[in-house]
Amino acid sequence: MLQPKIINITSEVAGLAEGQAKVLRLNRLRIAVIKLNDGYYAIDEICSHEEESLAGGSISDGQIECPKHGARFDIKTGEVKAFPAVIPIRTYPVTQKNDEIFLNIPNE
Ligand code: FES
Repeated sequence: MLQPKIINITSEVAGLAEGQAKVLRLNRLRIAVIKLNDGYYAIDEICSHEEESLAGGSISDGQIECPKHGARFDIKTGEVKAFPAVIPIRTYPVTQKNDEIFLNIPNE
């Protein structure tokens, strides 16, 4: 079984303000790393409704709103918070050690 891959993303997310996102392309994944008031979180960048990019969607109260039809997702859990999406989006663990930020992705 392949082990997850841990990537140091410290330089990629440096300078992100709270409520901002940075899109990373890793292997075949497109991941949005978002800074909230208590740390960094990572989600699939593609909306589960019609595969629109969530980048540029508004972020508030720990949720991101898809710019195309307005579905909202919990950034920490990927849970759907507003229709028309019904399928959660994938989340990825982000850890912080000292001043470095690490993203944990499946090794697919
Ligand atoms: S594509 Fe995101 S809500 Fe429709």
